[in-house]
Amino acid sequence: MGARDVGLPEHLPRSGELPAEVTIWEVGPRDGLQNEAATVPVDVKLEFLDRLADAGLTTLEATSFVHPKWVPQLADAEELLSRLDRRTGARYPVLVPNARGLDRAVDAGIADIAVFASATESFAKRNLNSTYDEQFAMFEPVIARARGEGMAVRGYLSMCFGDPWEGVVDPGQVVAAGRRLLDAGCGQLSLGDTIGVATPGQVDRLVDAFAAAGVGVDALAVHFHDTYGQALSNTLAALRRGVATVDSSAGGLGGCPYAESATGNLATEDLVWMLDGLGVRHGADLDALVTTSTWMAQRLGRPSPSRVVRALAG
Ligand code: HMG
Ligand code: MG
Repeated sequence: MGARDVGLPEHLPRSGELPAEVTIWEVGPRDGLQNEAATVPVDVKLEFLDRLADAGLTTLEATSFVHPKWVPQLADAEELLSRLDRRTGARYPVLVPNARGLDRAVDAGIADIAVFASATESFAKRNLNSTYDEQFAMFEPVIARARGEGMAVRGYLSMCFGDPWEGVVDPGQVVAAGRRLLDAGCGQLSLGDTIGVATPGQVDRLVDAFAAAGVGVDALAVHFHDTYGQALSNTLAALRRGVATVDSSAGGLGGCPYAESATGNLATEDLVWMLDGLGVRHGADLDALVTTSTWMAQRLGRPSPSRVVRALAG
């Protein structure tokens, strides 16, 4: 059963305060698969990426050039990218933490990278083996060199709402960290609720705090994990403020190996169902996504956590 089968007209009037169109930044192949206990074979990853592109997604975060001992699930990044059928019009960003990662991205002919900082000291240490300040010293030359090579650079910021070791994170602290990434040359800042604890009021306050610091919603994306079931509500709060890039993961795969209690990302199918209902354009084919996530769930040996996938996968 698709959206039209429950009586929604094919062309819905759009709610006035929402963006007309949203860019879905698909993170399943990276954020999803980095957290799997077993490494997914490269052939399965390649088919996953192809199916997602066939489903109409055009921003597909493919993998990471991180240390293979830290994230063995993505140790096949070179092979994956050398064999990937990069579709015309699609972008395949990869995560890069440092100069070594950037060398690998350049060798792989990558046009889009993302660096990933933490708003908190504790997670910088656990995720990057850096202090809070050292992480920026690591990223700044990477961003400058990548920009010099003509790459687009996104900056992720983790623990923007709550941190398992430090508790609730103050918006001022998040804005200060975000400004450092933007000032260093990141073209977009993705605000990560790494452990999925945020609520919509916090999203509003954080967008306000960025606006007060001169950072408009055009520079922002949102990245919600769904641990407490708030990812979709938080996304709607961000959309109502004008944020128009939303990160999600097909089937709700995901988590972070270095953040206790982080579960899957907002599921792409749940996002698409909501955007369809709101009349916001996104370009993805829900039925093809559901088929893909059902196929992937079979490969992983467990059902998809996405409510929409479970409802529609007849
Ligand atoms: P380190 O151990 O401190 O590295 O790790 P190092 O600089 O001391 O180097 C040690 C060795 O590693 C050296 O080799 C380097 O060459 C090598 P040796 O000389 O000993 O033979 N090395 C590398 N090899 C391959 N690729 C590299 C690389 N870098 C160094 N890039 C490091 C520091 C940053 C590398 C490590 O901490 C790391 O890889 N961390 C990544 C952790 C990660 O991927 N976490 C998940 C992604 S973040 C996330 O999921 C959150 C997000 O979704 C948003 C949200 O939800 O909030 C984005
Ligand atoms: Mg994440």
